Amino acid sequence: MAGSRVLGIESTAHTASVGIVSPGRDGRPRVLSNRSAVWRPPEGGIHPREAANAHAEALPGLIREALREAKVAAGDLSAVAFAQGPGLGPCLRTGASAARALALTAGVPLVGVNHCVAHLEVGRALLGCEDPVLLYASGGNTQVIAFAGGRYRVFGETLDIGVGNMLDKFGREAGLPFPAGPAIEGLASRGSKLLPLPYSVKGMDVAYSGMLTAALQMRRDGERMEDIAFSIQEVAFAMLVEVAERAMAHVGRDELLLGGGVAANARLVEMAGTMTRERGAESFVPERRFCVDNGAMIAVLGAMMLGAGVTTPVGESAVRQRFRTDEVEVSWR
Ligand code: ATP
Ligand code: FE2
Repeated sequence: MAGSRVLGIESTAHTASVGIVSPGRDGRPRVLSNRSAVWRPPEGGIHPREAANAHAEALPGLIREALREAKVAAGDLSAVAFAQGPGLGPCLRTGASAARALALTAGVPLVGVNHCVAHLEVGRALLGCEDPVLLYASGGNTQVIAFAGGRYRVFGETLDIGVGNMLDKFGREAGLPFPAGPAIEGLASRGSKLLPLPYSVKGMDVAYSGMLTAALQMRRDGERMEDIAFSIQEVAFAMLVEVAERAMAHVGRDELLLGGGVAANARLVEMAGTMTRERGAESFVPERRFCVDNGAMIAVLGAMMLGAGVTTPVGESAVRQRFRTDEVEVSWR
């Protein structure tokens, strides 16, 4: 794949983003550019049509900027990758249309990638871990995953809402800016009192809606926001680290790789580091810009798939709103 340049388009939810990667000398991908525009709901939750309209406006400029920053002409691309799913239908379709138009213009193949697998593979590719247990903690998803039999198998996951979704819903009620994860992290650093929030782990599964309800009640009861935020982080992340440790013991792996927007949280990173150190294992965390939704991760996975000869004919490029992690045949490993 020497000389190859893959452009990736992300648009599954609130973020439109375009990244370009090329293979580096050490075999790891080099990120040449990564440009994003985050759509923030004026109030309430994410409105798929409005977000999609914003993405449609942002993507042409992001593509131009990404190409300029990477010093690559569209005609020099080897492929155009896009997030085929899972995600919000209108948002996915906007990114897919942009990808089809660009690929057809440049005369290069399309590669439709799974957004969740991209969150994981970007870390494996950039950080060079071999065969980790993966803790994927984002807005919509919370899963513990390991590679087995040619697929990324989900060993445990949230039984209700994603951990990031819980943070964002709490933040919305409490008047914090969206996304609330970073604001909660800031508050938590000034909290100290551990309030009794429900700790909900079953085997390798977790649940967060009980914690959301309890945290909102504590706010009404007049507990300090700093202490609520501190307690949410301590309890929510302890749950994640427990299931990650159980999965590592179960499948006998000594690497843990974090991915997804919540992996941008320093306290989660610290707790995961403590757990892995105590087991004589190692934990890996991508840079923040590669944890949250980003086009570079789509390009990284697209390049891996292209290298294995996997491309997506236009006729098979329809988006897949419920594209599950374990549906993907991992032919590039
Ligand atoms: P999915 O990957 O499941 O489709 P998504 O695309 O909405 O979800 P990401 O962009 O990967 O998610 O992650 C966004 C989430 O990460 C939001 O819920 C946000 O609050 C959370 N997040 C971002 N930064 C932090 C942080 N510093 N601490 C905790 N959570 C954070
Ligand atoms: Fe995501």
